[in-house]
Amino acid sequence: MSLHDTTRDELREIAGRYPEARSALLPMLHLVQSVEGCVTVEGIETCAEILDLSAAEVSGVATFYTMYKRRPMGEHHVGVCTNTLCAVMGGDAIFERLKDHLEVGNDETTADGKISLEHIECNAACDFAPVMTVNWEFFDQQTPESAVELVDSLRAGEKVQSTRGATITSWRAAERVLAGFEDGLVDEGPAAAGPTLAGLEIAREKGWEAPAPGGGAGPRAANGADGAGGTKTAVATESPEQAAEEADTSRAESETKAAESPADTKGGGSDD
Ligand code: FES
Repeated sequence: MSLHDTTRDELREIAGRYPEARSALLPMLHLVQSVEGCVTVEGIETCAEILDLSAAEVSGVATFYTMYKRRPMGEHHVGVCTNTLCAVMGGDAIFERLKDHLEVGNDETTADGKISLEHIECNAACDFAPVMTVNWEFFDQQTPESAVELVDSLRAGEKVQSTRGATITSWRAAERVLAGFEDGLVDEGPAAAGPTLAGLEIAREKGWEAPAPGGGAGPRAANGADGAGGTKTAVATESPEQAAEEADTSRAESETKAAESPADTKGGGSDD
């Protein structure tokens, strides 16, 4: 397939969004994928021409990042996190079950062209382990059984909703979004939920607050408890400015003590 003029215009539009045009390469490659189903030779050459780069430079980027594919993808990209935490929580078992069920290996596409399966690295969603992604939308706390149900629904063309994101469209549609063209689904689904917010809820319950900007003191409870057994602190009623000043004084005192220690006064470091 040859890149249409509309795509070339959109590639130039993306390049025009950045003070340094070459900064646009990553989203431009996503747009190429949304049209071609992978990063093609023509896509590489077109990006290089627009950005005044060599094809080798563009190719170097396209082959470095795993989100850029050199073989045509299926209608949906299904990722299974098999990084440490997800793996021990069941990610490895999910991946094995899906390989058997779909009769594909890693980074392969089913015979009907519907699903490309890939084991992926940590997706920064460890609190929902084990996680999967479909076209980069999260599916939290999966099991081998739920994973099989999920891919069967996708293959059947049923409506599928991400756990914390938008309704699933297609890998190509998601690639267009990554290129910077909105699909209107950005507000679907909660941005944060469950385990991600657990720490915040505990902090609110206990009245913990973050230290003032620039202050060295750790989190403390507004009611004077330090949160680690209810010991009263002497700073519960301080203003943020007072707390910061106290932290600075305390740091200065400990630095002075360190400078006056016998090892220092005798020049007694052991660095040599
Ligand atoms: S290990 Fe799977 S999201 Fe972090």
